[in-house]
Amino acid sequence: MWTVGIIGSGRIGGTVARLAVAAGYSVVISNSRGPDTLADLVAELGPRARAATPAEAAETGDLVVLSIPVRACTEVPVEPLKGKIVIDTINYDPRLHGHIAELDNASITTSEMVQEHLSASHVVKAFNNIFFQTLRTLARPSGATDRTALPIAGDDPDAKAEVSRFLDAIGYDTVDAGSLAEGWRWQPGTPAHVVYAGETVQVAQPGNAEKVRDALAAATR
Ligand SMILES: NC(=O)c1ccc[n+]([C@@H]2O[C@H](COP(=O)([O-])OP(=O)(O)OC[C@H]3O[C@@H](n4cnc5c(N)ncnc54)[C@H](OP(=O)(O)O)[C@@H]3O)[C@@H](O)[C@H]2O)c1
Repeated sequence: MWTVGIIGSGRIGGTVARLAVAAGYSVVISNSRGPDTLADLVAELGPRARAATPAEAAETGDLVVLSIPVRACTEVPVEPLKGKIVIDTINYDPRLHGHIAELDNASITTSEMVQEHLSASHVVKAFNNIFFQTLRTLARPSGATDRTALPIAGDDPDAKAEVSRFLDAIGYDTVDAGSLAEGWRWQPGTPAHVVYAGETVQVAQPGNAEKVRDALAAATR
C-alpha cells in the first residue's frame, strides 16, 4: 500500500489524511509550523501516521497531497516532488488571499500555477469543490448507490488514473474534466463548486458523476 505525503494539515489536508488512514494507507503529514505541532492529529490518526516537515512528506509520499493557501505554493519543495503525482486542492479567493493578476485575468488556472512551480511533477487537481466536512461525510465504499464523484484535471493521463484509484479507495468516484487548463470549471463561484451543498455549504448532499458533469458543463467565465 502506498504512503501518502500531505503538505498542509488543516481542514482539507487533515480530512484527506483521516480518509487515507481509514482506507489503509500510511500518511506522512506536515504543516508550516513543524512536526511537533501535529502531535494531537497524529495521535488521532494512529500508527499509520507520522508527522514530518514538508520536504520529508514530499520525499516519503508515493503520492503527495498539497493543501495549503494559494500564496504558499511557491514555498513547496520542488526537488523531492520531481516525478511524483501531486494532488492540488488549492483554491483562489481574492477576498481572502489578495489579488493575483494572472488568476484575476484568467490567463492561468491555480493548478497550472502549481504545475509551473512543480514543473517536473505530475499535478492533478482534486478536492477543490468540496467542503472539508462534506468530504468526510460523503465518502462511501465502491458500489454504494449514493456514492459521490469528484472532478479531477491533469495533463498526464497516467497520473489521473492513479489519482482516480486513490479517490476510489478513500470513498469517491471521479469525473475526468480534462487538462489543468479546465480547472476553472470548478473554481469558487461556479455551479460545480457548490454541487454537493444543500441549502448552505454545510449541508451536504451526494453528487454522482452525471450531476458533476452537468455542473461542469454549466460553468461560464
Ligand atoms: N476548507 C475547505 O473546505 C476547502 C475546500 C476545498 C479546497 N480548499 C483549499 O484547500 C487549501 C487548504 O485549505 P484548508 O481549509 O484546509 O486550510 P487550513 O485549514 O487553513 O490549513 C492550511 C494548512 O496549510 C499549512 N501551510 C501553510 N503554509 C504552508 C507552507 N508554506 N508549507 C507547508 N504547509 C503550509 C498550514 O500549516 P500551519 O497551520 O502550520 O500554518 C495548515 O496546515 C486551500 O488552498 C483552500 O482554498 C479548502
